[in-house]
Amino acid sequence: MSPRPERSGLVVAVDGPSGSGKSSTARGVADRLGLNYLDTGAMYRAMTWALLQRGTDLHDPEAIARAAESIAIRSGTDPRAPTIEVDGQDVSSPIRGADVTANVSLVAAVPQVREMLVRLQRTTIGASSGGIVVEGRDIGSAVAPDAPVKVYLVADPAARAARRAAELGILDPGTTAEDLARRDQIDSTRTASPLAKAPDAVLIDGTHLTLDQVVEAVVELVDDIVREGAS
Ligand code: DC
Repeated sequence: MSPRPERSGLVVAVDGPSGSGKSSTARGVADRLGLNYLDTGAMYRAMTWALLQRGTDLHDPEAIARAAESIAIRSGTDPRAPTIEVDGQDVSSPIRGADVTANVSLVAAVPQVREMLVRLQRTTIGASSGGIVVEGRDIGSAVAPDAPVKVYLVADPAARAARRAAELGILDPGTTAEDLARRDQIDSTRTASPLAKAPDAVLIDGTHLTLDQVVEAVVELVDDIVREGAS
């Protein structure tokens, strides 16, 4: 589907904690509206994967900052087939591994890594003249504070853990709940761009909604905002 002209250049920021349904929602909205899609969490994961490969000490922020400078990350923005590469290698699968998930918050807390990836994210947003949906933790608050549409998606912890466990094929959502709580704690208390709802973001609680209903709610929001902008 090609973007309707009034939506070109549109930036839709979708933030929220792990397991809130951000990825499926952001991809669904981009697909429905014919927009590009950028998964910024995948970029932090790709950086973490690359640092693990290099044997970098992830408890040493200076070592992380130094090593990160020579790591090239590239994201493909088709919502039906998003890609992520490190130095030209497709890392879509390995970045979902348990070792990356367990360590990504440490890497995402390093200011130099954030500066580097935020720069890349802004370049991708700037190059998406047809409009883009960007998902992460700090998109509405730091990466694209001028985005006309900002959504902060939440769900209650049990629903998030059940969803994440199902995605990962884990039978016990209890361990997933602990892992999510630990990551949320690190992500929301770090000094550099913590997970936070932008004051002008619209809060959507997806606990009792299906994916289609959440996508529909965001599409309606986009339509309302685009219509307001045109009038
Ligand atoms: O959405 P995710 O689980 O793939 O994100 C992986 C990690 O990256 C998560 O622990 C928080 C971090 N992250 C971030 O700090 N800022 C973003 N914009 C996106 C993700």
